[in-house]
Amino acid sequence: MARRIPPRDVELTWVGKRGGPGATALLEQTACLRTVERVPGTAGPALSCDVAAPPNRLLLGDNLAALAALYSTLEGRVDLVLVDLPFASGSEYRVPLRLGRDSGGRGAGVLVAYRDVWGPGLSGYLAMLEPRLRLLHGLLSERGSAYVHVDQRASAVVRLLLEEVFGRESFVNEIVWAYRTGGTPGRLGFSRKHDTVLFFAKDPTRALFFPQQERSRLSHRYGFKNVVIHTDDLGPYTWVRCRDVVEVPALRGNQPERVDYPTQKPEALYERFVLASTEPGSLVVDCFMGSGTALVAAERHGRRWVGCDASPLAVAAARKRLLALPVRRPFEVAIVEQDGTFGVVPEPPRVRARAIFEGGGVRVELEGIGYERPEALPAEVRFTPEVSADFVDSWAVGWDCPDGVASADWVACRTRAVRELPFVSPPHVYARSGLHELVVSVLDVFGGRGETRLSVEVGR
Ligand SMILES: C[S@@+](CC[C@H](N)C(=O)[O-])C[C@H]1O[C@@H](n2cnc3c(N)ncnc32)[C@H](O)[C@@H]1O
Repeated sequence: MARRIPPRDVELTWVGKRGGPGATALLEQTACLRTVERVPGTAGPALSCDVAAPPNRLLLGDNLAALAALYSTLEGRVDLVLVDLPFASGSEYRVPLRLGRDSGGRGAGVLVAYRDVWGPGLSGYLAMLEPRLRLLHGLLSERGSAYVHVDQRASAVVRLLLEEVFGRESFVNEIVWAYRTGGTPGRLGFSRKHDTVLFFAKDPTRALFFPQQERSRLSHRYGFKNVVIHTDDLGPYTWVRCRDVVEVPALRGNQPERVDYPTQKPEALYERFVLASTEPGSLVVDCFMGSGTALVAAERHGRRWVGCDASPLAVAAARKRLLALPVRRPFEVAIVEQDGTFGVVPEPPRVRARAIFEGGGVRVELEGIGYERPEALPAEVRFTPEVSADFVDSWAVGWDCPDGVASADWVACRTRAVRELPFVSPPHVYARSGLHELVVSVLDVFGGRGETRLSVEVGR
């Protein structure tokens, strides 16, 4: 981890800055990752590096503790850090609460997904960011890169901070994501139509980089030498190396890619960075993952990944997106625990379920959920939280969970498009007779997780 930061002629400072301590001081935090669910993969090609590699993981909790917990196993092993930071916007980001079959715009209220509020000025924001960037730098392999997504509010200071952590010579590109929509100005100023992605390489002489190609439109076909000119419906074009301006529209309205998570970015944007700076089997980390766009891009291209977010709604959204992929490797969901406690886990739903024996198989019926402490549910929600299937967002059955960790062998989710949820599973036929312990787990609309265990005796 130790790396000599070259002498600086420019230095970023802020009120309360402690100065770069190196990652070791941060590792004194004692955090552990408690696995709460295992999600099997779909059938598909296994990665060559799968055997020794730790499983892909979704972590719920503060990313400082999560990074400290990952450090001992992942130091120097990550090829890509791809993070879309909170932008220091001073805003609270909300999602519509959709109950049961409700797919309409109004929903039953709103839930806070996360708050991007760090006190006056930028010092609280920078104090939050600095130790996280230092740990991320330590996780990167010698061929690793970091792409840090910000907007005009924080891009100047984040770039200086990255130069301090990585060294100025590690800066590669300031990438402009031009998204066309949004950003209507007040009286003064031009419309804001772009974000910035800062690209740093841990060691620019060794960083993985696979140049991507894009179409460059030509106004005519004449006068070019040694250039292959193609033509499509829009006219002639050539293939050129991708520029540092990415023109991908922002997600809008009812685009199928959209999930109910604010600040979700288009997959095509992050796919470009995954393809440019990793190879199959590379490990990608996004510890501000939101709905998991970077992880979905990584998964689609056979990269391994670890994602983390402090918002239970983010982890629920990312899990659902990963579950929807037609081909996916197994992954785990874990909770980041510090000193045996965790701050943001929502009230767990109590789960009622029963096993139904049918022919030679076993089905599970989810009878309902309830809450031990309904008063602990979000205050802005207007409802009587008495056992209701409408609060179930997804549920799963693990047919055999010998170590007690729930497995999602069969899983059903509501999505924006499909709100209907089955409450009886398909039958499962056990290959082995005898006693089995199955686990029925539920994620509710608040991102709360609850489970119950059922023992079933299968005859000989
Ligand atoms: C801009 S959003 C990421 C959106 C994401 N790129 C997507 O496409 O959905 C930033 C995320 O960082 C998370 N976050 C902020 N502070 C965090 C912290 N200390 N630990 C973990 N996650 C954090 C927020 O909950 C939020 O989901």
